[in-house]
Amino acid sequence: MIRLLPLLSLVVSCLGQNLLQNGDFELGTSGWEPCGGFHCEIVTDAHTGSKALKSSGRTQYYQGPAQIVQGLKQNSLYVVEAYVKLLTDDAGGQDVQATIAFTNEDNSIDYVKVAGRDKVLTKDGYVQLSANFRTPNRVFNRARFYIQGPVPGQEFVVDSTSLTAVAIVQVTGPGQNFLLNPDFEQGTVGWEPCWGFHCEIITDAHTGSKAMKASGRTQYYQGPTQIVQGLKQNSLYAVEAYVKLLTDKPGDVVGQNIEINFAFGFSDKTTAYIGVAGRSMVLTKDGYVKMTGDLVTPSKAFTSARFYFQGPIPGQEFAVDSTKITSLPESSDYLTTTNQVINQKRKSNINVKVTTAAGIDVNQLQIQINQVKKGFPFGTAVACDEYVSGDQRYQDFINAHFNWAVTENALKWGQMERQPGVLRNETAIAALKKLKSHGIKIRAHNMFWSVEKFVQPWVKALSPADLRKTVVNRIHTVMGQTQGLAEHWDVNNENLHGQYYQEKLQDRDFNLDLFRMAHQFDPKVKLFLNDYTVVAQGGFTGAYLAQALKFKNSNTGIYGIGVQCHFPANSAPNPTLIKAHLDTLAQAGLPIWVTELDVSNTDENERADWYETALRAFYGHPAVEGIMFWGFWSNRQSRGVPGSLVTGDEFRINPAGQRVLDLFENQWMTKESKIGTEAGQPFTVRGFHGEYEVKVIYNGKERNDLKQTFTLDPNDQTININVQ
Ligand SMILES: *[C@@H]1O[C@H](CO)[C@@H](O)[C@H](O)[C@H]1NC(C)=O
Repeated sequence: MIRLLPLLSLVVSCLGQNLLQNGDFELGTSGWEPCGGFHCEIVTDAHTGSKALKSSGRTQYYQGPAQIVQGLKQNSLYVVEAYVKLLTDDAGGQDVQATIAFTNEDNSIDYVKVAGRDKVLTKDGYVQLSANFRTPNRVFNRARFYIQGPVPGQEFVVDSTSLTAVAIVQVTGPGQNFLLNPDFEQGTVGWEPCWGFHCEIITDAHTGSKAMKASGRTQYYQGPTQIVQGLKQNSLYAVEAYVKLLTDKPGDVVGQNIEINFAFGFSDKTTAYIGVAGRSMVLTKDGYVKMTGDLVTPSKAFTSARFYFQGPIPGQEFAVDSTKITSLPESSDYLTTTNQVINQKRKSNINVKVTTAAGIDVNQLQIQINQVKKGFPFGTAVACDEYVSGDQRYQDFINAHFNWAVTENALKWGQMERQPGVLRNETAIAALKKLKSHGIKIRAHNMFWSVEKFVQPWVKALSPADLRKTVVNRIHTVMGQTQGLAEHWDVNNENLHGQYYQEKLQDRDFNLDLFRMAHQFDPKVKLFLNDYTVVAQGGFTGAYLAQALKFKNSNTGIYGIGVQCHFPANSAPNPTLIKAHLDTLAQAGLPIWVTELDVSNTDENERADWYETALRAFYGHPAVEGIMFWGFWSNRQSRGVPGSLVTGDEFRINPAGQRVLDLFENQWMTKESKIGTEAGQPFTVRGFHGEYEVKVIYNGKERNDLKQTFTLDPNDQTININVQ
């Protein structure tokens, strides 16, 4: 696909016209309001030219030069500038600020601080107030500009004031970036003032020569912010930015979180906060890290959309650059695309060479090419106790319909070894043996769980040195007992969302070591990352790609990327987003397995549609190598009835179950029959990968001597049938 990106995403210029009349006081007080209740006079101590305005006799904080501004448009960008000099001091310095009072249609007034400086002293001389701001997104009848700030009694001089419109021509069309001045090459234009902390333009940039630095942060949520224009409700957008930490938490070797969020405002004054991208474990030495994610805008109308960075703990400084929000067109023909991939990737040609001896009447000949087993891994999470000694219908269903299984809980360290050295392993191992005896392959889940709340108390109580030894012992014990039974291991579950072992050991790369040790113990077992908010939702997709690449490039023996895919309750899988996320992860060049699929919807027919959408998106993506449900029977799956394929004590295969089985066992299996002249000459069947049986029927009777079986893999297969 060729994506057209505009060369310049925006063109910024100041229109130049100062909307303030007599902004430099060279015409005296003309254009400025009389100073009611305090005293104003023209003085010669000017910043530019020969005149400035002095305020004295002030009894209120808000007393200072004021002017009614004409021609301000709503929801538009302006640059404000003024120079202010204090003539009297107060201990510690004082505030000065430029404010605009907007009078609304209902006569209420909104006071908007547009620029400010704090801790100003007389010895600073003239200080500059300068900022960009956006006017309110509603009709206002009057705009009054004024300078205020020093406490009552203090005197100050003002000069060189200006208020100018910023003209930003945004290039629209494919690839349009919805952020203005996204790379800070135009300074702070388009970005919100950073109230309560400090933002400045720096030259340590990711692209071009400028970036924005945030410092003086006292809150987690403080970071560069822009009010984004033009986003539509209920639409998809891709979000990207580069972020660099400039300070590390003292003593922190593992790293901090950085996030990109949106706050949507609604007319009822409520706000919805949506996280769109996150990175964990970021340290200053990583330099600029890429953040990618996506945004699904609210389905109800919103009045404002605020894009902002947050994350490092208060006190930490960071820089941002190269920001981007582009629309993600919903693919209308995803079925065509996925069907093409399915045809190319999941099928091969079976070339059937039929010869018939003289005397064979082809009109009496029939050849059947029947797939008897799926090649593609379709699996489920298995509750080992139920499978070993529970409901027979549960066991039979697994044996009949799935060719892969993942242990739901029984192999987790916290379940298996609740007390040190006391292994509750009998059921798990019995389940693995039984699954294997039914030809079902096994994903073992999980060796370690990186999220602190899932680490059992006795492990948490270990000293770092003992923890290292215990971890090695766990690897050797559990891999030893499952050796030859499990094909896959999830090594350190959900490492994007927790770094327990790394933090406890103060060893940032211990997650890599866990893989290396496991790989060394048994190089034949395929090792996986396994995480969430990477495909069903996309906040950590970019972070996961970066993690996968790190594992791939660090000799860890990693085999694949596990994507959990627990779709949020009552939220339909979106094939455009699924494809975008899988495309991103596929850049790692590692196989992707869907490891824990479930949706949640009490409407069984809608649930059927949702599973079909998700399954088609996965099966129709070339990087996906296997798909596992996170259980199927409502009595034994974490999502219960709303996620189930089979419901209740009656073990009813519900519409979702019927739909899934129809895909697995009908639509995505091959059964072909040729009769008469068609059977008597060579023909080709494009078949799904898996095991096949070839039957020849002549004169209404099966010719057992001509029966054959074969396995169809990604290579085309030739079958010779010689009917005599
Ligand atoms: C369970 O663990 C114990 C202790 O390591 C071991 O002796 C036993 O063989 C294991 N059981 C199975 C079925 O692997």
